[in-house]
Amino acid sequence: MKRLEGKVAIVTGAGRNIGEAICKLFASEGATIAVTDLVQEAADRVANEINAAGGKAKGFACDVGKEDDIVKCVNDVVAAFGRIDVLINNAAISDNKNMFDLTTEQWNQTLAVTLTSPFLFVKHAARWMIDNGVKGTMVNVSSTSGYFGRDRAIAYTAAKGGVVNLTKSQAIQLAPHGIRVNAVVPNKIGSPVGRDEFDPTRPVLNLAGRPGVPDDLARAALYLANPESEFVVGTALFVDGGCTALMPGNA
Ligand SMILES: NC(=O)c1ccc[n+]([C@@H]2O[C@H](COP(=O)([O-])OP(=O)(O)OC[C@H]3O[C@@H](n4cnc5c(N)ncnc54)[C@H](O)[C@@H]3O)[C@@H](O)[C@H]2O)c1
Repeated sequence: MKRLEGKVAIVTGAGRNIGEAICKLFASEGATIAVTDLVQEAADRVANEINAAGGKAKGFACDVGKEDDIVKCVNDVVAAFGRIDVLINNAAISDNKNMFDLTTEQWNQTLAVTLTSPFLFVKHAARWMIDNGVKGTMVNVSSTSGYFGRDRAIAYTAAKGGVVNLTKSQAIQLAPHGIRVNAVVPNKIGSPVGRDEFDPTRPVLNLAGRPGVPDDLARAALYLANPESEFVVGTALFVDGGCTALMPGNA
């Protein structure tokens, strides 16, 4: 029995890299996939590849920085596939800026896409699940940047830290409805956020001795999305090669 047989999964920011890997792994486990991305063509490419490999998927354009897009996406997925069982909030952008170089507009946009979107997508998908008696699972993608300060990416680090505690409150508020919410915490998986080129010289300091690949994160998301993890609620699963186990300067 495949682990997501009969389930419908929405993955945001799924037009490449980590989101793409999650879609393809979930499809191989029997899920029907709503591949959503800011860029329709990117979502369609991933959906087409899943369909060509014998899975079932459809591409949806959705700017997660806009609540109207999120509401429309939830409705469109239900119209296309009849239900929603799994939501993976993967989309994010990084400002990559020091506070003095960051405009208020850039701060707001980074928080809208990276922190407000998992708030809104969970809210609207959970509303549908509760109204339709679906005990679903949801995974928010945080980052090790949510646990440490950095000399740049001030909005991204703030947003990713927020995602961790947002996940706990969502888990508490949705547990009475049988909906489980968890987070994953990646570090240096494939290419940096906002880029599509893998750089083998990207410095990586961890216990695994290699950079992460998108499938590392996809397997963790699969664990949290299926009933194998039914006793795991409101937690943050580090998928970081052990980098956060290292005390800075004393590795
Ligand atoms: N790559 C890493 O090393 C790393 C490390 C820690 C955390 N993460 C997290 O993992 C997740 C995926 O990272 P990635 O490296 O695959 O990112 P990526 O930049 O390669 O891909 C992000 C995708 O999101 C889409 N996107 C951007 N803005 C969007 C919007 N407003 N609405 C909908 N989609 C939008 C992009 O089109 C793209 O397809 C993110 O949450 C990121 O913060 C990644």
